[in-house]
Formats: sequence, structure tokens, C-alpha cells
Amino acid sequence: MNVGTWPVAELHVHIEGTLETELLVTLARRNNVPLPSYDPDALRELYRFTDLQSFLDIYYANLAVLRTEEDFYDLGLAYLVRAARAGVRRAEIFFDPQTHLANGIPLAVVFGGLTRALTEGRENLGISADLILCFLRHLGGAAALETLDAAIPFLDQFIGVGLDSAEVGFPPSLFTEVFAKAQALGLHRVAHAGEEGGPDYVHEALDLLGVERVDHGIRAIEDPDLVQILRDRQIPLTVCPLSNVCLQATPTLGAHPLPALLAAGLLVTISSDDPAYFGGYVDDNLAAVEHEFGLDPHEMATLARNSFRASFLPEAEKRRHLAAVDEHLEGLLRLIS
Ligand code: ADE
Ligand code: ZN
Repeated sequence: MNVGTWPVAELHVHIEGTLETELLVTLARRNNVPLPSYDPDALRELYRFTDLQSFLDIYYANLAVLRTEEDFYDLGLAYLVRAARAGVRRAEIFFDPQTHLANGIPLAVVFGGLTRALTEGRENLGISADLILCFLRHLGGAAALETLDAAIPFLDQFIGVGLDSAEVGFPPSLFTEVFAKAQALGLHRVAHAGEEGGPDYVHEALDLLGVERVDHGIRAIEDPDLVQILRDRQIPLTVCPLSNVCLQATPTLGAHPLPALLAAGLLVTISSDDPAYFGGYVDDNLAAVEHEFGLDPHEMATLARNSFRASFLPEAEKRRHLAAVDEHLEGLLRLIS
């Protein structure tokens, strides 16, 4: 019997980071956008990063190929098809509207394509999915406020706001006003913090932005008081192990703080971040930590359960997914007993 992949929720994936080099080439040709090469393998060869910024430079440059609603639809659907294979039953997907606006693409085009892909994914792949609009921290708080205002006509097409891009030098405190406004609009709030920035960025995200989840958050392990706060409040961390290795946030996977975060009783989840760039989707990330840290089926089930617990799904839907995790665990235990 093959019980397949763990059912999971993916809570930290940038749709722009799922742009595989094959689709990149297709879209570049479709829209007459120049690329350094038209060979998908040669383009992938360029993905050697030393830190977050070295990745962001290529990631933003590649997004020039996204021009039409069809392009955004193709990007969204390609992720959902791959995610279904990875066991994803729920996806809360980041997107970076400011990048597309700067490229001259109206918000209606971005929402139109992505929302159509999500509808298709729901109907034909059985994945429940929603969008989280991210502000680019390097553009500052005023630009974030302008973006939120521009997105108000599309409020029924996203469930929350996030904060991403270059972390160090752009602390959460710059974004208090836009996060307060998002809260007043009834939106969920998450933020990247503690990826390259220190534990103080995580404290600020909690205290000043009122985030319900912390994206990455791995440097929280350096601050015992912060670990206690995260444990007591069961604030989820969306940890992306292959991303952390590729961007050298951790020197090796073996040195990753995941086991320490789990041992401290934190609500840790696993996601892929930018799978087209970091060598793997959520199933690959789960397999990597299972292998590296010798996680047993019960520990893997904890990661899968945490992902649904940390999601923004209604409680009844969470219970349904948690039952599916239990069923998968039982099947697996039967298989190996
Ligand atoms: N944008 C896309 N991926 C990101 C990451 N890992 N950190 C910050 N911003 C991002
Ligand atoms: Zn991210």
C-alpha cells in the first residue's frame, strides 16, 4: 500500500516564487521580454544565492515577463497543479502587487488571473486557496498604504496582508499605520520577520503590527523570552527550510533551528517560500527535514496538523483536515508495522 503524501496546508508561498524557468521562457517569448538565456536549465544555473538580496534581485527581474491576466492565471494554476501533487489541501498564497504595478500592470489584471486560477484549483483540484497581499518593505510605509487603498475595490479577493522583501533596515515599525488599517478592514495580518533580521523584528511584528503568524521567524530561537511568548500565545511560525539553506540564513540544513523550535513547543509549520528558486515544493521541504532530522511519523503528523491549525480556515474545516492527517498517520503506521 502506498499512502502517498501528507495532507498539508501551505501557508508561506509567494506565487511569484513558483515561476519555474520553463514557464518563465514561455512567458518571455509570449510577451517579447528579453531574458539572459532561453534555456530553462541555463537560467536555473544562475540561481546561486548568497543572501536574501541576491535572490530578490533575480526574482524581481524575472517578474517582467508577467504582463496579462492569462500570464497570472497560468502562473497560479501551475503552482496549484504541482501543489496538489505535494499533498496541499489548503494554500494561503502571497503575492507582491507593488512589483506588478511598477511594471505597469493594473491590479485588476493581477487579481483577475490569480482569482481565476484559484477558482479552477478549488473546483478541479480540490484545493482551498486564498490570497494574501504583501507589501514590499523596501518601498516603505507610505507606498504600502497607497497599495492597500488601491486594493480596496478587490477586498473580496484577498483575506489578509503580509510584509516581505529586504528585511534588515526595514523594520515592522515602518508599517504600523497600514497594518492598523488592514485590521480595521477585517483582514488577517502576517509578516516576514526573523529571517535575516534579529528577534527584535519578531517582537515588533507581534507588538506593533499585531500579526497572527510570523513568516520564517527562525531567529526567534536566539531570544528565550521571545520563544516563551511564541509558545504561550501559540503564534505559528511558517518555516521554509530549503529557502533558509539557499539564502544562507542557516549554514546547513543540519544546523537549522527547526528541531529546537519544535522542542520548545512552538507551533511550527513547513512551507516552500519560493519553490522554483530553492529546489523544492512543500513535499520536498517535508522530506528534507524528515530525512535530515530523522523525524518519525508522529513528528511528521505534528507538522501536518500544525499547518492546518495555523491556517485561516474556519474551525469546522480545520477539523476535517486534521481527521485526514490522523487517517494518513494510521495508514502509514499500518504500512510500517
Ligand atoms: N519575497 C519572496 N521571498 C521572500 C523571502 N524569503 N523573504 C522576503 N521576501 C521575499
Ligand atoms: Zn517568504
